[in-house]
Amino acid sequence: MTLQVVTAVTGAAWESALVGALDRVDHGVTVVRRCVDASDLLATAATGTAQAALLSADLRRLDAEAVARLTTAGVAVVGLVDPDDERAGERLRALGVLTVLPADAAPEEVVRALRAAVAGGTPAGRDVADPRAALPLPDAGGPAPQDRRLPRGRVVAVWGPTGAPGRTTVAVGLADEAARLGVATLLVDADVYGGVVAQVLGLLDESPGLAGAARQAAAGTLDGAALARLAWSVRPHLSVLTGLARADRWPELRPRAVAAVLDEARRSAALTVVDCAFNLEEDEELSFDTAAPRRNGATVTVLEAADDVLCVSGADPVALQRTIRALGQLRDLLPEVEPAVVVNQVRRGAVPGDPRREIGKALERFAGREVRAFLPADRRATDAALASGRTLAEVASGSPLRAGLRSLAASLARVPEPAGGRRRGRQRAG
Ligand SMILES: Nc1ncnc2c1ncn2[C@@H]1O[C@H](COP(=O)(O)OP(=O)(O)O)[C@@H](O)[C@H]1O
Ligand SMILES: [Mg+2]
Repeated sequence: MTLQVVTAVTGAAWESALVGALDRVDHGVTVVRRCVDASDLLATAATGTAQAALLSADLRRLDAEAVARLTTAGVAVVGLVDPDDERAGERLRALGVLTVLPADAAPEEVVRALRAAVAGGTPAGRDVADPRAALPLPDAGGPAPQDRRLPRGRVVAVWGPTGAPGRTTVAVGLADEAARLGVATLLVDADVYGGVVAQVLGLLDESPGLAGAARQAAAGTLDGAALARLAWSVRPHLSVLTGLARADRWPELRPRAVAAVLDEARRSAALTVVDCAFNLEEDEELSFDTAAPRRNGATVTVLEAADDVLCVSGADPVALQRTIRALGQLRDLLPEVEPAVVVNQVRRGAVPGDPRREIGKALERFAGREVRAFLPADRRATDAALASGRTLAEVASGSPLRAGLRSLAASLARVPEPAGGRRRGRQRAG
């Protein structure tokens, strides 16, 4: 059967020579279209006429998102690189192109590679409409980067239902406490409905933050040094990648790129704490438009990539109801994720009887989840922190809320808690 191939090969000399040779000799290959840039390539891929794409590393507008969309459209991708450009192969692999050949390879060799790539199927095996298509492709070939063998940090996603249960308070508190316990920590504001972490920490933020890191990741240029330049260094052991200053800029947080940022974060920090938006819903109207960006795709991607997913809940009946619903939604969407419930703003009077007992029982019964931690309501402490743009450790170091956060931070970062901290947190919390 002839193989339908679309080409997007710049670098004049080889293009016509190679494409001509592919077409001319009977290799069983038909070049259905020669494209000038990545957009042209994607438009052709969307028509379903091509089974494989042959592209060069310097193609205009080529980024990881484009490669992902080709792959999920069922088009196998083979890259060609200038044999004199040593880094071109690496660049292509960073974008997700798993098969790379020198541009002076014999036409037979190129055809073999195209056939092998088509036979391999789509490495992700997921439709682009599924936000999980955003996850990095498994490494199916090419040399593993050197640093793969280094220890990789953990990622904790702080998520929860709508209604401001305290996701940001918990994320900031956990990151701050982990850093104070000596753990190299990166706090990432990934709220696609607008980030507030910069403001909460009193940072006069003009930095490109996570959106900037995502942009670089999509271009294949994000490394440890670039990440360090984009993050605020708040104090020893604590860096912050700030969020979207304006909520309408959510398309800048492309899921695939956010996943790549987290991957890089694992190399730089022992612990990465991600402040997530609440919403997991898909936009119904977009469900047929497989290429449309999805606002909640970044949240879903973070939850799937994280080692620990915290579901922060409020402690009154309305908040608990929302938590139960949100946990059900999470189970439907990502059944493999086992969230840990953190009940925040625990106080007497919001539910009848002993709040911990009653809340624990309700969540066990209606969501099938045990509570990992209870954090007390402490408005005086949180107001003092907000008013001064500082953290609980700075403005309310003896507060039971801070003690609870420190205890949770130690367990998530897998470091011992300083003596005394746990007992005090237990006695006075709730
Ligand atoms: N344990 C707590 N005790 C008192 N107030 C809290 C507590 N946790 C959060 N808050 C307050 O509740 C409000 C919402 O918290 P925030 O962390 O911004 O929620 P979310 O990120 O879930 O929208 C903020 O004013 C915050 O200071
Ligand atoms: Mg928030």
